[in-house]
Amino acid sequence: MFQLNKTLDKLYNSPVDKNIEENFQFILFGGTGDLAHNKIIPAFYNLAAKNILPEQYTIFATGRRYDSEQEYLDAFYNTLQNKKEKVDKKIWQSLAEHIEYFQLSFKDENDFERLRERLAQKSETEAISNRIFYLATAPKFFAEIAEKLEEFNLLNVGFKNHDSRLVIEKPFGHDFDSAQKLNNTLSNIFSEKNIFRIDHYLGKEMIQNIMVIRLSNPIFRALWNKEHIDNIQIYLNESEGVKDRGKYYDDTGVIKDMFQNHILQVLSLIAMEEPENLSAEEISDKKVEVFKELADNDLSDIDEHIVRGQYDSNTVDGEKLKAYREEKEIDPDSETATFMALKLFLNNERWRDVPIYLKSGKRLSKKEAAIAIEFKDDFHSAYLDNQKLDTNLLLINIQPEEGVSLRFNTRKPASNNQIIPVEMEFCQSCQQYFNSPENYEGLIYDMINGDKTLFTSWKEVSYSWKFIDKIQDKCAEEDIALHMYPAQSEGPGAADKLLEADGRSWQDKE
Ligand code: BG6
Repeated sequence: MFQLNKTLDKLYNSPVDKNIEENFQFILFGGTGDLAHNKIIPAFYNLAAKNILPEQYTIFATGRRYDSEQEYLDAFYNTLQNKKEKVDKKIWQSLAEHIEYFQLSFKDENDFERLRERLAQKSETEAISNRIFYLATAPKFFAEIAEKLEEFNLLNVGFKNHDSRLVIEKPFGHDFDSAQKLNNTLSNIFSEKNIFRIDHYLGKEMIQNIMVIRLSNPIFRALWNKEHIDNIQIYLNESEGVKDRGKYYDDTGVIKDMFQNHILQVLSLIAMEEPENLSAEEISDKKVEVFKELADNDLSDIDEHIVRGQYDSNTVDGEKLKAYREEKEIDPDSETATFMALKLFLNNERWRDVPIYLKSGKRLSKKEAAIAIEFKDDFHSAYLDNQKLDTNLLLINIQPEEGVSLRFNTRKPASNNQIIPVEMEFCQSCQQYFNSPENYEGLIYDMINGDKTLFTSWKEVSYSWKFIDKIQDKCAEEDIALHMYPAQSEGPGAADKLLEADGRSWQDKE
């Protein structure tokens, strides 16, 4: 395994985050929900621990669940303690001083008036340069809340010459039409530059690393095309089932839950042309070209290129694991896919004829997400003397382990020039001092600083929905089979056959 040498290690782990200089008001809708508990407030705690938050800022956490601010803070302190090995009371205290719990129901107009008054009052004593409205609520409330923000003048009260921003969680619509409708509503209120659509995969360390690996290493940059790459695989495997999100998931399935957003985002970073500069707009434009290509895919042979699956019951080590159809709030006859594998092509100069294999599923044997780039081996050299070689393989491990490995061929020691494959591995998450930031930490940092690079643009979202809608329609037209697979297994065998038919195999099975 590679180890960073001492100098690099120091550089790598030095605090690179700059302080957030702009004072802000952060208005969190859904401030008592799961996301606030598990991601947003813990991310703020980490930012507070790094001491990079400005002197003046307020997090208005809105919700109904708690009756008093103390109750709210106690509940969140408990969550933090359960999540983290150690919570520093002083750091928590420094954050808690900036949190105001504001009891509010989206249905009650008086509550919006009260909130406006509070924001105005606070703005008199704290000069702010940023106001961020974060909708961590059920998606059905997104449009309604945004409209109320405008109607009750929450965007501008006590606050001039700066823009208010809107942060919106996924899913952004449930198909192209609903996404467009939502976007029309939001863009009547906020300009595109102030709408931050979250895809938390873009906050993951190794996803942010894709462009660096591609573009800062001549050995990869030069080979990043159809002449040298045999196939691309992206797999986001999950070991958990739907847990208590049955109601949401049964309408959504893996295709909208993981493909429309996370997998396609990862693919766009792998497949896009090189940006001419690193502005958020330029990177998004390059990603959009990939999404457009996808949306133009004719999908005529979809039945041969797609595998849909659903987890069935299983018994592992004497424990009975539920089938998807037995989970809470799932229709016992549900035809929703919890697994999908897809083979597709991008019809452009860089990638024509390079198969791209995508896969994601719930209740698989282990949680593992990675990108595998397998290089071609159609070269001839006198050295090979008919020996069958392993291909060069670049593996970008997203989680649980973060890192990169490269497989290449070398001479077997003390042999008669026998060639064997070896792997060079860099495990980022194993570095002694490196603590990967939480996905939401970086995203919150960026939204406060107004950097949209790690957020999805409307164009990206719209084309990705067009592609997903097309697949959904085709699946319905062609009545694509649903393969049952045992919970905690490798998924349906048909997904392996998809690659075997091409003389290949999934790299997570290697
Ligand atoms: C969410 C999906 O967006 O991503 C979940 O709604 C899924 O169903 C989750 O489990 C996976 O995220 P991660 O970061 O655990 O890979």
